[in-house]
Amino acid sequence: MSGTYESMLRPDALKGRTIVVTGGGTGLGRSMAEAFLVLGASVVITSRKLDVLEKAAEELAASTGGTVMPVACDVRKYLEVEQLVEKAVARFGGVDGLVNNAAGNFISPTERLSSKAFEVIIDIVLMGTVNCTLAFGKHWIAKGERDKAVLNITTTYAWTGSGFVVPSACAKAGVLALTRSLAVEWARYGIRSNAIAPGPFPTKGAWDRLLPGELMERFDLAKRVPLGRAGEHRELADLASYLISPFSGYINGEVVTIDGGEWLRGAGQFSQLEAVEPGMWDEIERMVRGVRGS
Ligand code: HXC
Ligand code: NAP
Repeated sequence: MSGTYESMLRPDALKGRTIVVTGGGTGLGRSMAEAFLVLGASVVITSRKLDVLEKAAEELAASTGGTVMPVACDVRKYLEVEQLVEKAVARFGGVDGLVNNAAGNFISPTERLSSKAFEVIIDIVLMGTVNCTLAFGKHWIAKGERDKAVLNITTTYAWTGSGFVVPSACAKAGVLALTRSLAVEWARYGIRSNAIAPGPFPTKGAWDRLLPGELMERFDLAKRVPLGRAGEHRELADLASYLISPFSGYINGEVVTIDGGEWLRGAGQFSQLEAVEPGMWDEIERMVRGVRGS
């Protein structure tokens, strides 16, 4: 996304705010981090691989002129997450927004999975989100700090379910439940919780694991989307910027789908009639009008 990104929000929309993005060194996390920097926020990017984070931080700082702090942290490990809170607070004095974006996923028939394989995805996606939310939430509540935002990146199969990515579907459904539950429980502390459910957005991390090799051509995700294309990172980054900013101060407990209409096409019983040639509709209408009685 670097280079030409211009936000829909005004350039100082996040000025003076600090935002932590898990999984912020790659893919959508990196694009969201870039957008927040463009809007004046200081950003902490975190994941397991410090080398990836340091390179991303250097590039993002150069392209946006913003302040980026890379911190290695495995979101599965609560102690490391507590250290992440300490480091971010020590450097910036406080944190205003948390984006739970880190995830793990791969395709597999469920019967081929070991218990450990199931567990590793639940650990990263659900427990990682829980750990970060708990650690930052406890910190904010203990300090009596208000006007905070948690933004969770889930997916549309959190509510439809999906074969072949069942651990991820279970974990993302849990993330959605967490989002809605804390939106109510923690509102009294001035902490909002929202989520984004993206459809297909090209990233190396997701697409190489979900559609490796020739599967990419056979199951082109863009073809499932009524708008006929995959999402652009800037589109998701704009939405995330709005939801993490005080401009969305009355939005709480919402999950915003950004998928070009993908999941609804799958859900609508007659959506497949898109395949009917336009020229056939006169004949179809004649047949339908000709039906009388039962
Ligand atoms: C079956 C597998 C497997 C596979 C790993 N395992 N890959 N089983 N099929 N393809 C099993 C291993 O054998 C092991 O079980 C267990 O899972 C843990 O594997 P490790 O390799 O030890 O785990 P780890 O090193 O922690 O790596 C985690 C990972 C990896 C999830 C497996 O892919 C990763 O680091 N991913 C991070 C980035 C990522 O996944 N990005 C995509 C997000 S996309 P045993 O029993 O053998 O010990 C996304 C998109 C959603 O979420 C929607 C898209 C439209
Ligand atoms: P990605 O680039 O693979 O992002 C995943 C990130 O999570 C990586 O930066 C990875 O970094 C980090 N991560 C993994 N395990 C971690 C752990 N234990 N602790 C800390 N960080 C960890 O993939 P992406 O496509 O950008 O995905 C970003 C988010 O969007 C995910 O929540 C995903 O489910 C969601 N999503 C993506 C799509 C899509 O089409 N791309 C669609 C729907 C939802 P390290 O390896 O360095 O730890």
